[in-house]
Amino acid sequence: MMHATKDLLGFDLPTQARPVNVASVPQRSPFRYPGGKTWFIPRLREWLRSRPCKPKLLIEPFAGGGIVSLTVAFENLAENVLMVELDDEVAAVWDTITSGEGEWLSNQILHFEMSKESAIRETQRIPQSRKEKAFQTIIKNRTLHGGILAAGSGFLKNGEAGKGILSRWYPSTLAKRINDIKLVLSRLRFEQGDAFDIINKHKEDLDVVYFIDPPYTAGGKNAGSRLYTHFSIDHDMLFKKCSELAGDFIMTYDNSDEVKNLARKYALQAKPIPMKNTHHAEMTELVIGRELSWMDATTRVCESAPEYKIKMPKKAADSTDSRRTPPTSSLRLG
Ligand SMILES: C[S@@+](CC[C@H](N)C(=O)[O-])C[C@H]1O[C@@H](n2cnc3c(N)ncnc32)[C@H](O)[C@@H]1O
Repeated sequence: MMHATKDLLGFDLPTQARPVNVASVPQRSPFRYPGGKTWFIPRLREWLRSRPCKPKLLIEPFAGGGIVSLTVAFENLAENVLMVELDDEVAAVWDTITSGEGEWLSNQILHFEMSKESAIRETQRIPQSRKEKAFQTIIKNRTLHGGILAAGSGFLKNGEAGKGILSRWYPSTLAKRINDIKLVLSRLRFEQGDAFDIINKHKEDLDVVYFIDPPYTAGGKNAGSRLYTHFSIDHDMLFKKCSELAGDFIMTYDNSDEVKNLARKYALQAKPIPMKNTHHAEMTELVIGRELSWMDATTRVCESAPEYKIKMPKKAADSTDSRRTPPTSSLRLG
């Protein structure tokens, strides 16, 4: 199967598995998203290219910042892409961009004079339209600690190089990312809704593939609730539904015993992906699917350190120790 070596924007596309620094993955999302999967993009390409033919549709039921959907659309890795997200603020951004109002949004961003006072004023206004809500969401996402939109999140204090609230506000970069998405709108759709509904709707479709990245933080619901407004889902049910899908799927999860047990219960394979963050700390996440031999050549990826910390009660923190165990080359379950 032949693949293009450049994407629509002229970025070089990697042709084989090799260690990839996340800085080499094109940043296409206007969000900086807690739990964002930019680091996973090299593996996603490997998965989709290992398949005998290009999927008719890739669905990302927990889209968040949408880097997977955007990459698949830009790199033409599936014929069509459907992003789904429940959160109303995040959905307002995707609705605005995918309904052709991206230029309005990018103009607002370009003309906004960012300061702590103006950010507070803008985000406390009652939005008069969907696109105004989208603009407020972008401001919040770029000025709140870790990009966290969930209640209780606070403004960036020192930020990058002590620049505080301005340290993640790159108006022309954001405007360009939003405007570039126009190039792929013919094959990219967004729906606000529940992941389970969309999975049920397509469960019989053989030519659909799914990238599933649910809210989950080893350590329990409280940890997840600090990152997302919608964080509580039935993970057992999600595994069950996925195991019954006609189409292929992969899930990504924290590396925890609970998740490994669910994989075993539904006869799925799980493989840890080793990562090294910028502090050189070894971490692993799990990739789960029916058949993961395409991961055999998987190499280490580097990701930026997360910008947020989860405070957990001591007992819960102890139970997440699996995140710190040295990576093993492969773990087969079931
Ligand atoms: C781990 S994040 C996804 C991050 C995404 N993969 C990225 O790269 O930015 C999980 C997302 O699922 C969303 N979510 C939570 N419950 C949902 C549901 N029932 N249906 C759809 N989305 C949901 C959350 O709002 C959050 O944005």
